[in-house]
Amino acid sequence: MKLPFDCADEAARVLPRVVQWRRALHRIPEAGLDLPLTTDYLERELRALGLSTARAGSALAAELGFRGPTVAIRADTDALPVAEETGLEFASGRPGFMHACGHDAHAAALLGVAAILAGRRSELPFRVRLIFQPGEEGFFGARDVIAAGFLDDVAAIVGAHVGDLSEELAPGQAGFLAGPMMAASDRFEGRFVGSGGHGSAPHRARDPIPALARFILDSQEIAARELAATDSCVVSVCSVSAGEAHNVIPGVASFRGTARTLRPDSRAFVERRLSELGKGIAAAHGLEFEWHWLGGYPPLVNEVRATRAAMEAARETLGPDKVVELRYPIMGGEDFAYYLERVPGCFWFLDTQAPERGIDKPNHNPRFDLDESLLGRVVAVNLAAAARLADLPGGSGTDR
Ligand code: NI
Repeated sequence: MKLPFDCADEAARVLPRVVQWRRALHRIPEAGLDLPLTTDYLERELRALGLSTARAGSALAAELGFRGPTVAIRADTDALPVAEETGLEFASGRPGFMHACGHDAHAAALLGVAAILAGRRSELPFRVRLIFQPGEEGFFGARDVIAAGFLDDVAAIVGAHVGDLSEELAPGQAGFLAGPMMAASDRFEGRFVGSGGHGSAPHRARDPIPALARFILDSQEIAARELAATDSCVVSVCSVSAGEAHNVIPGVASFRGTARTLRPDSRAFVERRLSELGKGIAAAHGLEFEWHWLGGYPPLVNEVRATRAAMEAARETLGPDKVVELRYPIMGGEDFAYYLERVPGCFWFLDTQAPERGIDKPNHNPRFDLDESLLGRVVAVNLAAAARLADLPGGSGTDR
């Protein structure tokens, strides 16, 4: 549907305020599902724009427009338990916490959309629902947003991520990928349990350490030898713990890790095979095996028509040279996947690096920063994409 203004012009107009909002949010990073400072701040700013808000825990929603289908734009709002080392003048004022993944920018850009639309509600040919979501960094915040009813009546959804997420993007470019774009981010943990003894007499103990070593190495064979080479899978054992002394065989060796897959069937296969592998190795070594599959976010799968529509909107808004159709997914996880399981939509990336100015650290790094001059692109493309998504079949909606 056609908006009664130019998205790029309007985004340029609100950019200075978006930068102010981003810096204000950057100073008050909070992690997890409970973000009182952040949510109060966002609610205050939305109300100052004349909007009414719905709040569920630290999730916020605001709706603009009076007719037509509802398209949601989502921003996540949580930070990370990272001690900031940027030295920025608006650096974190909460020691040990930092907006190291750019969610401050996502939230600020969504306030920018609110600022553009606030005075034009009666002109809008569709409804726009702004969703501010806590707990993206592993806390399943999207599920709470859905449970709160904030996705009800939504015909389509769009959301973006800033930073340095795809090696196919140059600074300033927007990346789109129809189909699987991000991986299931499952977590697992387990233990090999034997019995301890003297390091000089392993025959009188049941040593769990060689079994864990085999498990770590053999877990790599699932991707290399059991799944098709074209079916992406990563298994990483990221934490191991066993023993305390040079000469004591411990009774227990434990591990934690993550498995990343792009397809539901491969996801279930990896879960099953890791468990079978651990049991088999334990049996061969005369040990017990304890296994916990902790699950995680499902794969993020962009709906094809919504992605084409959003990419077209981005080309029109930014110019074709700023828009890249990505060839490869990334193996990071993102709980936007839960929205896409329910409604058609598109998640996209904006590369906000500026290496010539030293802004070159990856997401989650204690010196992560972003090129604020690019944040207007998040505002403009999300808004232009929302207008296109309002046209998708099934999204016609009725006047309520
Ligand atoms: Ni993130």
